Amino acid sequence: MDQKSLENALAKLPLRNIRYYERIGSTNDEASRWIAAGAPDFSVLVADEQTQGRGRGSRKWFTYPGSALAFSVILRATPQEQAAGAIAARFAGLGALSVCLTLQQGYQLAAQIKWPNDVLIDGQKCCGILAETEWLGNDLSTVILGIGINIAPGSVPPAEILRFPATCLETAAAKPIQRVQLLAAVLANLQKWRAQLMSRALIQQWEENLAYRGEIVQIQSAQPEGHNPVLAEGRLIGLDSLGRLKLASGAAPIRYIEQGEIHLRKKGRN
Ligand code: BTN
Repeated sequence: MDQKSLENALAKLPLRNIRYYERIGSTNDEASRWIAAGAPDFSVLVADEQTQGRGRGSRKWFTYPGSALAFSVILRATPQEQAAGAIAARFAGLGALSVCLTLQQGYQLAAQIKWPNDVLIDGQKCCGILAETEWLGNDLSTVILGIGINIAPGSVPPAEILRFPATCLETAAAKPIQRVQLLAAVLANLQKWRAQLMSRALIQQWEENLAYRGEIVQIQSAQPEGHNPVLAEGRLIGLDSLGRLKLASGAAPIRYIEQGEIHLRKKGRN
């Protein structure tokens, strides 16, 4: 992977700009600097290695050279999107949906979304997404969609530092995966679904691909030291139009869970 091979592979996509880094701190951090310098909508940053990769909740995200796909996409909110409000959640779902559908359609992998935006195969995480937002007053101006996909076995961190079981695409597919091809396919899906960001179809697709549908799940507080009190429990029945998770529990009113510093777990699993 290098600047030239990326440009060639992505030539058919209407991308505004693409930058490749052999080694960088975090593509999300670099994206933020690029935004300040005027990066256009749909600019993409790709790194072979990240030395300060970040996950949700200030956790570390490891990107070892040659083994993973780590990239950030800069999305500028349109005036219509801004006017609609509550769209940050949809942007997060957009990333997960694009990866999930790419793995299903292009690689015949039984990918699912662990709400809000992790992608699982066989119950193991293969992709994490960090959606970071920049605001102008009360208006969402820009979203940085940072996507990390485990490709080769060497991309999966050792089990003792994982909070959730992980896998990689080459193990799941039992064949080599070309990172640049995968990136092109994810970006194509991202562009397709970005055009439908405010649609019911996006929420429907996100919902249809959720892991643990119909099962009893717990929402746990995400404490750094592994103490994760249960905040809510119930049967996962789907999403509402704001991308909130809906949990049902007997005759009690449905609970709506917002994205935040929480973990979703199937009941009975840590
Ligand atoms: C998570 O599962 O906690 C989210 C992980 C997001 C990792 C990606 S890799 C590219 C981008 N740059 C970062 O520093 N993080 C995201």
